[in-house]
Amino acid sequence: MISNTATGTGSRLINLKCPACGAEYDASVTNTFCKVDACNSTLFAQYDLGQPLDKAILKDRPASMWRYRELLPVIGEENIVTMGEGFTPIIPIENLTHFTEGNEVYWKNEAGNPTGSFKARGIGMAVSKAKELGITTIATPTAGNAGGALAAYAARADINAIVYMPKLTPQVFKDECRLYGAELVEVDGNIADCGKLVANGAAEYGWFQISTLKEPYRLEGKKTMGFEIAEQFNWQLPDVVFYPTGGGTGLIGIWKAFDELEQLGWIGSKRPRMVAVQSESCNGIVTAFNGGQTSAEFVDGGFTIANGLRVPKSFADKVILKVLRDSKGTALSISDAEMDTAVKEIASHEGMLIAPEGAALWRAYKKLKASGWIQPGESVVLVNTGSGYKYLENITI
Ligand SMILES: Cc1ncc(COP(=O)(O)O)c(C=O)c1O
Ligand SMILES: [Zn+2]
Repeated sequence: MISNTATGTGSRLINLKCPACGAEYDASVTNTFCKVDACNSTLFAQYDLGQPLDKAILKDRPASMWRYRELLPVIGEENIVTMGEGFTPIIPIENLTHFTEGNEVYWKNEAGNPTGSFKARGIGMAVSKAKELGITTIATPTAGNAGGALAAYAARADINAIVYMPKLTPQVFKDECRLYGAELVEVDGNIADCGKLVANGAAEYGWFQISTLKEPYRLEGKKTMGFEIAEQFNWQLPDVVFYPTGGGTGLIGIWKAFDELEQLGWIGSKRPRMVAVQSESCNGIVTAFNGGQTSAEFVDGGFTIANGLRVPKSFADKVILKVLRDSKGTALSISDAEMDTAVKEIASHEGMLIAPEGAALWRAYKKLKASGWIQPGESVVLVNTGSGYKYLENITI
């Protein structure tokens, strides 16, 4: 049971809005993405942020993402499917300080979430909203972590889950889906191939598909990382946030969260510079950013040990690129060998076995510090999106 929400006012959800063409959608029915002509944009949930809300409401709230209920889309408390996701710790670099001299560098460590990754946030939110909307079967393509999270949250919500996952994903990701009772389809291809199969199945059998950013509420779960970063930094945002970017849901979500907090008057206009980190094998955002383009090409160079970063083209590439530019951020790619080394460096010196996706950020931070892009005195957050325990077969030991 979610306690102490009675002191708040409940969800302030108004509707869904297309950030590209401005079309508005009724949030009391199921929605996917913008259907106006060829718009095809992700839809953003909108909230009534004009009425004042006192930060003091947070004081006795649960230490989970649901503590921000007013700014989340689930209306009925009985529909919340929760296993304590969110409110993950901020952990400073403790021993590798010779690399971080002059900066304060922190992990936002998502590894402790149910099913071991930040996907618990987005999927927990999407499943809760699906329950509220009466959906009985949910299907998703996944690079690994989202599939496990869907399987678990669907089991808890008593909803059917169908997961399409690339064959070249570590076994544990497949086993967990089956253990949680989902139907798992292994695909000889990448997440884009999985996505096509899910779309076909959805058209034929009426499944509700929650592909990244083609469904509005995973974003709302992921944005809670932004609320937490603000709260955990005492409402003074850090200078730089590094994010491992596949579909980019978390990056866009964190940015959306900061905007909502500013509209509420809980933070000022200062924003961190946002850094998108990709795998060298799948770096369409990096190439587009460096080339000054507003959209990304389809790039798939094959397997990467950071399975979550093998996303050949994000559905929201334009939004990601806009956030990077608006924030005066940047984008860079990291090789598998660099990630492998970084996983071991962080494990052996910091006591944290992080996902290769998170480890890529450590390497990226070092590069940007060496180049002078990160300045002395700046505070930095690295979002470790998942647990390294699920990736052991990808790491050289
Ligand atoms: C551990 C991990 N990090 C990062 C990502 C990429 O996330 P996003 O889609 O928010 O860019 C994924 C996606 O599967 C993941 O599993
Ligand atoms: Zn639109």
